[in-house]
Amino acid sequence: MAQVLAGKTALVTGGTSGIGLAVVRRFVDEGAHVVLTGRRQEALDAVAAEFGDRVTAVRADASNPTDVAGLFEAVAARGAGLDAVHANAGIGEFGSLTEVTAEDIDTAFATNVRGTALTVQGALPFLNEGAAIVVTGSTSASGTERGFGIYGGSKAAVAAMTRTWAVELAPRGIRINTVVPGPTETSGLKGLAPSDPDALLQQIAGGMPLGRLLRPEEIAAAVLFLVSDESSGMTGSELFVDGGSTLV
Ligand SMILES: NC(=O)c1ccc[n+]([C@@H]2O[C@H](COP(=O)([O-])OP(=O)(O)OC[C@H]3O[C@@H](n4cnc5c(N)ncnc54)[C@H](OP(=O)(O)O)[C@@H]3O)[C@@H](O)[C@H]2O)c1
Repeated sequence: MAQVLAGKTALVTGGTSGIGLAVVRRFVDEGAHVVLTGRRQEALDAVAAEFGDRVTAVRADASNPTDVAGLFEAVAARGAGLDAVHANAGIGEFGSLTEVTAEDIDTAFATNVRGTALTVQGALPFLNEGAAIVVTGSTSASGTERGFGIYGGSKAAVAAMTRTWAVELAPRGIRINTVVPGPTETSGLKGLAPSDPDALLQQIAGGMPLGRLLRPEEIAAAVLFLVSDESSGMTGSELFVDGGSTLV
């Protein structure tokens, strides 16, 4: 079968782990050159070693405007523009209303909201004709998971921004959609319970209609769909890949 992204260039933020890494893998398999980011140099080096000249790994904190400017200097240096963008870098931490601090709130919103906005904004001058953007939301944006109020609020902001940007970008023929993962087995999810991650994962999986967590590759398949022409009729949408978790 023909590769969906043959000869195309993609950007994936937070591409060194979990969902982002699965997207990098899938995009490379489909023929793209992928520019990817993360904050940890050793993780970037590992992805660069795995994929060689199929990727460009750039150390950039999505919440830091100077880092984001550096990222787009690297995109400019490649000289091929961008056909697909996945603004995926994000963090989540448990913290009930009685526990969260001002710093916790700023950290979540700096990465998930400011980081997403700076990434999409920075990509605009480089978007090739017909380019498509995907941002990573979360079922927490519309759910009521205890301890996830601030995280869910930041992801609700991401979905809201995306709806407006879809209207703003439509005259350029650029589509932007939100992929909405349910609980997905990643180090990010495990990091919510560092003392006993397996117990947390088992507990969440037990509450899922499918009886298991999602795999990062299942989210990546939806992201590929959203950047491909197969989704040409979609913009400003939220595509839930949640294993039915929002049904119960
Ligand atoms: N796993 C789930 O159940 C789930 C469900 C719904 C939504 N999500 C969302 O999916 C996205 C990916 O999560 P994941 O579970 O795959 O997490 P993960 O395994 O922890 O991966 C997160 C990736 O983002 C990078 N990152 C984090 N903060 C960053 C920042 N400020 N700037 C640049 N890169 C940053 C990380 O690298 P560094 O640490 O080196 O920066 C890593 O590459 C997030 O937006 C998350 O909120 C996850």
